[in-house]
Amino acid sequence: MRRIVLYIAASLDGYIARPDGNIDWLQDKKYNIPDEDFGYSAFLETIDTTLMGNSTYKAVLGMDMPFPYSDKKNYVFSRSAHENTEHVTFVKDNIVDFVEKLKEQPGKDIWLIGGGELNALVLNAGLLDEIILTYIPIILGKGIPLFSADAREHKLKLLPAHNNLYRNGFLQVRYTT
Ligand SMILES: NC(=O)c1ccc[n+]([C@@H]2O[C@H](COP(=O)([O-])OP(=O)(O)OC[C@H]3O[C@@H](n4cnc5c(N)ncnc54)[C@H](OP(=O)(O)O)[C@@H]3O)[C@@H](O)[C@H]2O)c1
Repeated sequence: MRRIVLYIAASLDGYIARPDGNIDWLQDKKYNIPDEDFGYSAFLETIDTTLMGNSTYKAVLGMDMPFPYSDKKNYVFSRSAHENTEHVTFVKDNIVDFVEKLKEQPGKDIWLIGGGELNALVLNAGLLDEIILTYIPIILGKGIPLFSADAREHKLKLLPAHNNLYRNGFLQVRYTT
């Protein structure tokens, strides 16, 4: 069965965005390392589908660039009805059933993009297979958590061969659930 992989970056204190959704701290040019994309393009090769909460989708739309996942099948979860677009399909009801069925379909792995609310939902439903988490060397103090407060306790297993410490201070760790 295809796997659901959460590939995401967080501050050292576990936030994925500032309280207002801002991710400027993540995009700071001082973190750039020439010819280094922290495994991103290799990861993109392994997936053909993405999952996003509507807040994350809106944040992606707010970025000053063309929709970045146009070669993937993209699902956006919202409790309200929305018209599908050229790039995304909205899912409103029974999202756990929907994701379960998606996993059973043939295909490459599925990227759980986030954010924290959707991450907790997928985790609690037992549908999350792997986490590739890049810690950014910053403490924000407050913000949107990697998993919302609804997340239940889960013990994770380290994938020892797949951890990277980059010279800009990024620490990438991989866990299975
Ligand atoms: N650091 C990173 O790598 C990274 C990665 C991803 C995201 N982010 C950031 O994370 C922030 C968003 O995270 P978030 O936790 O606030 O929100 P989120 O998980 O992206 O989206 C929450 C939204 O998902 C929908 N939703 C939640 N539960 C649902 C359910 N049971 N059924 C149907 N729809 C449901 C609702 O949309 P409606 O309100 O439309 O009903 C809800 O408001 C953004 O600022 C984004 O930039 C950062």
